[in-house]
Amino acid sequence: MKHLLSMLSLSTEEITDILNLADQLKYENKHGIKHHRLEGQTLGMIFQKSSTRTRVSFETGMYQLGGQALFLSNRDLQIGRGEPVQDTARVLSRYLDGIMIRTFEQSEVENLAKYGSVPIINGLTDFCHPCQVLADLMTVREHKGHLDGLKMCYIGDGNNMANSLIVGGLKMGMTVSVACPENYDPDKKVLDFAENNGSFSLVRNPLEAARGADVIFTDVWASMGQEDEAAERRRVFEGVYQVNRKLLDAANSGCMVQHCLPAHRGEEITEEVFESHAGEIFDEAENRLHAQKAVMVTLMERK
Ligand code: CP
Ligand code: NVA
Repeated sequence: MKHLLSMLSLSTEEITDILNLADQLKYENKHGIKHHRLEGQTLGMIFQKSSTRTRVSFETGMYQLGGQALFLSNRDLQIGRGEPVQDTARVLSRYLDGIMIRTFEQSEVENLAKYGSVPIINGLTDFCHPCQVLADLMTVREHKGHLDGLKMCYIGDGNNMANSLIVGGLKMGMTVSVACPENYDPDKKVLDFAENNGSFSLVRNPLEAARGADVIFTDVWASMGQEDEAAERRRVFEGVYQVNRKLLDAANSGCMVQHCLPAHRGEEITEEVFESHAGEIFDEAENRLHAQKAVMVTLMERK
């Protein structure tokens, strides 16, 4: 494994290895066992969109691994003034040991990987959010003891989270059921993958998708970069595409609720459901740290 570009590019074995290493690093972290496995290394973090969790967990994670992280905002980099990503990739590869990037186009991440010579980690694009989904799978496995055979349900926009959850869930042997409004389906590449790789359904009715679920995921109706569509999206999603008590009643007892955050209470999730599952949701947020440390060690450790 050279880069983390999307869940599509990971095998089931690679996902399992990352989750196992994440569990080990979490254990070591909780027991004060130092693991300076990236001593002296520097990760560059390019952000073309906002972030709380991704920025802080990568930065802290790199510190805990004995290295350092540089926050590189689009506002300050020449990339924001039009320097091509191909040139940026080749320059940064001469200084850094790895690059995490959060941006719009998936092709930008792929180009960094193509032109650069250090590991590239996708910290969210319009297409996918693999770091988040590795933490999500880690959290579900931690709570349920396994992933294989569980039913994952996703309610809402067929966005970057939906794309990565579908692929990640199916690769780990989960049944995946998604409810999106018409015209807000997941990416075609993901639907093509899902059609040939396990048990998948895409429906319009959230109650149908939630039936028998062991974990329900949701995400915001309008993602970063879609601010000017927010009113139209609200009109389409409101009152239907929400994780609420009625939806949970259709799921299996003990069904988990996960949200990548930030959450919009009263929109895609009710305050009551959010707060009654807050333990699981903040475990999920915490696990970003451990899962990403596992990704960085896997990609960057010098043997
Ligand atoms: N879930 C997630 O990626 O959060 P941030 O946007 O705060 O990084
Ligand atoms: N779908 C959301 C996820 C944020 C972590 C977005 O792209 O804004």
